[in-house]
Amino acid sequence: MKYRTLGASGARVSELCLGAMTFGEADEKSMMHKVSTPEAESLALMSRALEAGVNFWDTANVYGQDGLSERVIGKWFAETGKRHDVVLATKCRFGMGPGPNDRGASRLHIKRALEDSLRRLGTDHVDLYQIHMQDAQTPEDEVVAAMDELTREGKIHYFGVSNYAAYRLVESLWASDRRGLSRLVTLQAQYNLIERSLEFEHIPALRRFGLGLLPWSPLAGGFLSGKYRRGAAAPADSRLGIKSQRFEGVDKEANWKILDVLLEVAKEVEASPAAVALAWLLKQPTVSSVIIGVRTAAQLDDNLRAAELSLPEGAIAKLTAASAPTLHYPYAFLKNIDGRW
Ligand SMILES: NC(=O)c1ccc[n+]([C@@H]2O[C@H](COP(=O)([O-])OP(=O)(O)OC[C@H]3O[C@@H](n4cnc5c(N)ncnc54)[C@H](OP(=O)(O)O)[C@@H]3O)[C@@H](O)[C@H]2O)c1
Repeated sequence: MKYRTLGASGARVSELCLGAMTFGEADEKSMMHKVSTPEAESLALMSRALEAGVNFWDTANVYGQDGLSERVIGKWFAETGKRHDVVLATKCRFGMGPGPNDRGASRLHIKRALEDSLRRLGTDHVDLYQIHMQDAQTPEDEVVAAMDELTREGKIHYFGVSNYAAYRLVESLWASDRRGLSRLVTLQAQYNLIERSLEFEHIPALRRFGLGLLPWSPLAGGFLSGKYRRGAAAPADSRLGIKSQRFEGVDKEANWKILDVLLEVAKEVEASPAAVALAWLLKQPTVSSVIIGVRTAAQLDDNLRAAELSLPEGAIAKLTAASAPTLHYPYAFLKNIDGRW
């Protein structure tokens, strides 16, 4: 396993991060119902990942409903005593209860949500605390002030954001700089071979300001593992087989064409499509760590191979060309004149 710095911070994280969205047997109230991993297997996945050098884990208070994922991680910490071997990331912002302040990115909710997460995780601090999605109703000044206070209190070491528009990301930096407060270090966002829209605004902004990207859903919910086939029903025990609306979201000819090239490259380099798709992400600028999602130990082993896979330049170029997003104005104009933007 190789290690990279966590965005703008000096903390070292494994280039593959263990995503905990599926940890624990989620009930019907959770979006992970029927596609999650029972507690005992989740505990084993954490041990296996750490043994393989994966020292960075990502969860959220909403994963698995009522803090289930955080509670499973807390149980693993209590059983193994290995809290300090892990760089732990969690998030707040989405609803954790019926009240108007049980959600959002206000100082009020951020601080209350962190106390609840610490209790479930059985720890006195979180290494990377993230706003799960921008909150249009809360001024960004209030968000960075709350995160700065938590940093000074020693309850978090760094803060990051997720699912932010690029203008809002820069506004966050601006608010921190104007007030002399801690800055965000990472953006967590969806990025994979069939979803590359971050390349227009977000990745140039991350580059310009020295921040790190943590791609989520790197296999597009499993689509890029190669187990789905054009014109065939999705396997019944798979995430996209169970969540049919999500399958409809990816079942597009343009995506199947990208998958065709991925399968071709995987054959050429004698690796699994999942490992190749993850290895392609590891070659993209600003990526600090790719957040892998796994339901089984076999998937974990498959995906871990990405860290050992050195993709030839030709293979990377082929995947990049086959999955290139359409350039609209002003990017087409800028590229035409300057060759970049
Ligand atoms: N910030 C956010 O808003 C946000 C949103 C989503 C996710 N995340 C983070 O990103 C992490 C990963 O997201 P994700 O679970 O959507 O990632 P993903 O890699 O796109 O999808 C993971 C799913 O694909 C299937 N899979 C994975 N590896 C496979 C393999 N080698 N062979 C066959 N199937 C395989 C499994 O589902 P099945 O076996 O059930 O088919 C697995 O649960 C999450 O745990 C979470 O930490 C963050």
